[in-house]
Amino acid sequence: MMKITVNNRTLEVSGERTLLEELRDAGCDIPSLCYAGKAKHEASCMVCMVRDVATSQMLPSCSTFPTEGMQLDTESEDVKNMRRMSLELLLSDHRADCEAPCVVVCPAKIDVARVILHYDRGQMDKAKAVLRETASADQLPCVGCKASCEKACRRGTLDTAVSVRAIIEEVAKYKAEIPNTASSAAKVQHSFSSKLGRYSEAEKEWLKEVYNQPSRCLHCACEGKDKCKLREYASQAGIKSSRYGVSSHQMVKEQQHVSGRLYYEPAKCVRCGLCVYNSRNGFTFQHRGFDMQVLIPEENKAHIDEHLADLCPTGALFLRQD
Ligand code: SF4
Ligand code: SF4
Ligand code: SF4
Ligand code: FES
Repeated sequence: MMKITVNNRTLEVSGERTLLEELRDAGCDIPSLCYAGKAKHEASCMVCMVRDVATSQMLPSCSTFPTEGMQLDTESEDVKNMRRMSLELLLSDHRADCEAPCVVVCPAKIDVARVILHYDRGQMDKAKAVLRETASADQLPCVGCKASCEKACRRGTLDTAVSVRAIIEEVAKYKAEIPNTASSAAKVQHSFSSKLGRYSEAEKEWLKEVYNQPSRCLHCACEGKDKCKLREYASQAGIKSSRYGVSSHQMVKEQQHVSGRLYYEPAKCVRCGLCVYNSRNGFTFQHRGFDMQVLIPEENKAHIDEHLADLCPTGALFLRQD
């Protein structure tokens, strides 16, 4: 056993476990993206940084082991700024379209995007159930609303906005009527959503060909947002957008089917490598540096376990709900 000091508190540690493991067990709140417990990993994200007080050096806690007498700082502004910078660097090459614009602006907080998603798939019962989450026993809130959703609709940047209100009304009329009284807006979303997702000219052309649903909706929201640690940490750090700008070269909404319900969206990948190191050659890295990306050879897809979605720290690997 050996002694280390963490934020002026003395800890006794074995020396066989990483700083991250020891510090978390001691109650320190340290973020991590490329580390996931017992899964194989290589330090790459640098969001788990702590400071060695003696040398002022920042250390990735997930891959550093304690030494006798080490003094660590895990909560100063310097440390938080370092982690924040790491997050911003990741976000500078990331299509962070966490929320659909129509959802963000809806004054009644209807999950418009999810209603339309089910509508497009012909799942009217599910679409109705989503609508009921915010309009349950009350009036359809769209009555009298100035349709902020349609003004914000990203489809409008291609040609014309989706007729969101007409779809919502059609869904509301399905089977049972929603009674006509005042509405109660319920859910409030204040999480990180960068608004970085303006479409490039190439994407606009590409999207016109790809999307052909009855509603013409582009399904802007990120399908893996509910389990995304990148978004969680960015929200906690109060990041609104990356100070380094954004330069994602990945096509937005290009989604590849992997196996079962598992899908991969390259534009949401932070290249942490967890899927590569833990999928028995199912995933591999292609290229290097800025151009590096995860590749899933077609012949390996059938053997890939759906549970890899749990390991992925972003919405890049996600399970499609329906
Ligand atoms: S394209 Fe669809 S998801 Fe995107 S803003 Fe318009 S209605 Fe919402
Ligand atoms: S992967 Fe995370 S940060 Fe990126 S768009 Fe999805 S929810 Fe937002
Ligand atoms: S797909 Fe997910 S797990 Fe794999 S490298 Fe990208 S972010 Fe990491
Ligand atoms: S969690 Fe330590 S470098 Fe990613």
